[in-house]
Amino acid sequence: MIRVIRSIDEMKQWCREQTGDGCSLGFVPTMGALHAGHRSLLERARSENDRAAASIFVNPTQYDDPEDLENYPRTFDADVEMLESAGIDALFFPSDDSIYPTDYRYRVTENQESELLEGAHRNGHFDGVLTIVLKLLLITRPTRAYFGEKDWQQYILVRDMVKAFFLDTEIIGCPTVREADGLALSSRNVHLDPEQRKIAPRFHSILSSGAEPGEQRRQLEAAGFEVDYVEKRWGRVLGAVRLGETRLIDNVPL
Ligand code: PAF
Repeated sequence: MIRVIRSIDEMKQWCREQTGDGCSLGFVPTMGALHAGHRSLLERARSENDRAAASIFVNPTQYDDPEDLENYPRTFDADVEMLESAGIDALFFPSDDSIYPTDYRYRVTENQESELLEGAHRNGHFDGVLTIVLKLLLITRPTRAYFGEKDWQQYILVRDMVKAFFLDTEIIGCPTVREADGLALSSRNVHLDPEQRKIAPRFHSILSSGAEPGEQRRQLEAAGFEVDYVEKRWGRVLGAVRLGETRLIDNVPL
């Protein structure tokens, strides 16, 4: 049985007990609504460490749109089932108040790369992400923490924050898991209607085409997407598009 821990002090203590005798601890932070992409992170955390923990916390500070926060799927029972079947030892499931005891007066700001791409389209998003990830890493102090490469900008900002603050956690990026037709798995995919779901895989195929970003933007628009950005950076091409109300992001190596 997985141990579900709500209190910060109890989670700190559980993590210290696990690593006290030199054992390694793998940690997977999530916002729940777990899918096969999360499963790949959980399985790596399980296989590469003596102990494995995950968290579910729908972090309000990384949303600039209250409706987006409201619409985030909450599937706690199914999530616990997946965590158990992946062999995760403990789930940290804190309340909003306990994580933000001083509201949001103290936060982490990165002032270069967080302002590009996702950061340019989602006001304050990476302050919220970096702040919650720092809090979670300080509570759990894991040997390794696992992040999906679908959120490439998040992955590199977290990796560099850990270097900047001398944390002893190794940040591991895990390859994006895709449907057979190429669509990157995302908790948001449930919001696509059947027509949008048919168009959605074109996003990945156009990003992978090798065409210049301007040309990819034109092709995406012709396919029916609204395009937030398509840009080359960090040796990759990264994009964000909308199909109706649903926003999708993806990236591929150049
Ligand atoms: O990628 C996510 O699910 C979230 O941004 C994270 C890393 C759990 C922080 O809330």
